[in-house]
Amino acid sequence: TERTYIMVKPDGVDRGLVGEILSRFEKRGFKLIAAKLALPSKEHLEEHYADLKERPFFPGLIRYMLGGPVFCMVFEGLDAVKTGRAMLGATNPLASAPGTIRGDFALATGRNICHGSDSVENAEKEIALWFPEGTLQYKLSQAAVIYE
Ligand code: GTP
Ligand code: MG
Repeated sequence: TERTYIMVKPDGVDRGLVGEILSRFEKRGFKLIAAKLALPSKEHLEEHYADLKERPFFPGLIRYMLGGPVFCMVFEGLDAVKTGRAMLGATNPLASAPGTIRGDFALATGRNICHGSDSVENAEKEIALWFPEGTLQYKLSQAAVIYE
């Protein structure tokens, strides 16, 4: 099964959306295998968004992400990366369908409240960056009714 890194950004934490976002992934059937509140350094955030370093919005993105604590989560389950992205919605919240997290709670690209890994390879990189202590292995009793 697949793992994905999901993070509530500082605006999402400030707006009290941690529980809502975590809850949507739980209810969908994904297994929470790591979670913590963190205040990442500038260097840590620059590594997380290293692919975007040359983009004009990069300095503003790092400033935004330094605005307060983030809530870091790893979820495991069937097609977790692609399904996680679908649950978050489009990068631009105005293009996100209602029913998605950004489509329900955000308006601006630069304040889009949550992050989700965009590929299995990047998910594994991000999990290693944010959870060097590792994730947990355990059995959900629900699994038998969630999967066929
Ligand atoms: P993440 O899940 O946060 O990685 O978002 P994403 O994968 O949907 O988008 P991407 O990785 O391309 O960009 C990372 C983040 O940078 C976005 O979520 C936005 O917060 C911000 N961002 C991306 N494009 C723009 C832009 O054109 N303007 C501004 N202000 N911010 C942007
Ligand atoms: Mg991205």
